[in-house]
Amino acid sequence: MNTPPQFEIFLVAPPGLEAVLAEEARDKGFADPAVLPGGVAIIGGWPEVWRANLELRGAGKVLVRLGGFMAFHLAQLDKRSRKFPWAEILRPDVPVRVEASCARSKIYHAGAAIQRIETAIREELGAPISAQAEICIKARIIDNEVTFSVDTSGELLHKRGHKEAVGKAPMRETLASMFLRQCGFDGAEPLIDPMCGSGTFVIEAAEIAAGLHPGRSRHFAFEALASFDPAAWEAMRAGGGAAACAPGAMACAPGAMACAPGAMFRGADRDAGAVRMSRANAARAGIDTITAFDCHSFADLTPPEGPPGLIIVNPPYGGRIGNKKLLYGLHAAFGQVLAARFGGWRVGMVTGEPSLAKATGLPFAPPGPPIPHGGLKVQLFRTGALK
Ligand SMILES: C[S@@+](CC[C@H](N)C(=O)[O-])C[C@H]1O[C@@H](n2cnc3c(N)ncnc32)[C@H](O)[C@@H]1O
Repeated sequence: MNTPPQFEIFLVAPPGLEAVLAEEARDKGFADPAVLPGGVAIIGGWPEVWRANLELRGAGKVLVRLGGFMAFHLAQLDKRSRKFPWAEILRPDVPVRVEASCARSKIYHAGAAIQRIETAIREELGAPISAQAEICIKARIIDNEVTFSVDTSGELLHKRGHKEAVGKAPMRETLASMFLRQCGFDGAEPLIDPMCGSGTFVIEAAEIAAGLHPGRSRHFAFEALASFDPAAWEAMRAGGGAAACAPGAMACAPGAMACAPGAMFRGADRDAGAVRMSRANAARAGIDTITAFDCHSFADLTPPEGPPGLIIVNPPYGGRIGNKKLLYGLHAAFGQVLAARFGGWRVGMVTGEPSLAKATGLPFAPPGPPIPHGGLKVQLFRTGALK
């Protein structure tokens, strides 16, 4: 019997969060994740590729390294690209496109490299080339070594397929999930986002508690690759999470379908449109029975009955929405509400402006590294349990 092929799988992470993604990969049973700049490398075969796309909350994309060769000029790139075993990866009936980058190499013109590789694929395999193709081959030419990868995700993985409605400055689901992980959230404690916008943190938290796979509802590029096995994929996807837990239990173990007697995962926003959006997004994600969204200002926020948990929040900040000066007062008032009413709760605040975190007066530990998000950099500020 042939051994199934194994290759390097690269899980893309925002710079600064590679180690957090590696921890998630380890927790989800991927062996020996290696932290690299911009992501995490693991070794596996196609089933691991599918599972990484299906299960990892923090990865932005899953790339597969296909191999490569040395090329010192374009004619050599053309010849060797023609001999590359494209038929093992690509289908002749599925459109494809190529992206390239060059560094420290005799071939320095990415456009010319793309043209050679695309021509080789079209003429040798017969696959149509299209700028709109979902399937993308990435060629990196560094020190005259050409390495091909294929993007197995397609659309970025923060698109879980449940969120149609988004607000002015939504947090990416991938980033939200990694910030939750950094706050020590594992689904077994209540959570509140008092400025929830489109509900990203609350919905991610509820899905984690319910043991639902983030990719359960969406399509992936790997479904159109030569290696795809629809029956094996369906079996993998159907096997995901969501076992029942004891009725009346306050919290469910991670991996069990949450069935707490009230909503453990709550969002609020003073904007009625945001609350409507959050409810609709939660319903599409199928976690509306364990979430609740209310329309009010944080000034009216009170802790629910039961044990304390995590307050996670991404308040408005100057660079993107709102006026920075007005925001200092808002942050100070927010900090006072939490300090006065939320003893025992931990706080995680994501902001692009450290001075706004300081304005809350909350006892934040030194923040995490700046993470690129929507053209800005954001940082996670965390407290321990408030007194
Ligand atoms: C940066 S957005 C949050 C985005 C959210 N994390 C998401 O993924 O969609 C900030 C939110 O704070 C809300 N907000 C601003 N001032 C507020 C207040 N005083 N009370 C409650 N919500 C407020 C805004 O309506 C906005 O939806």
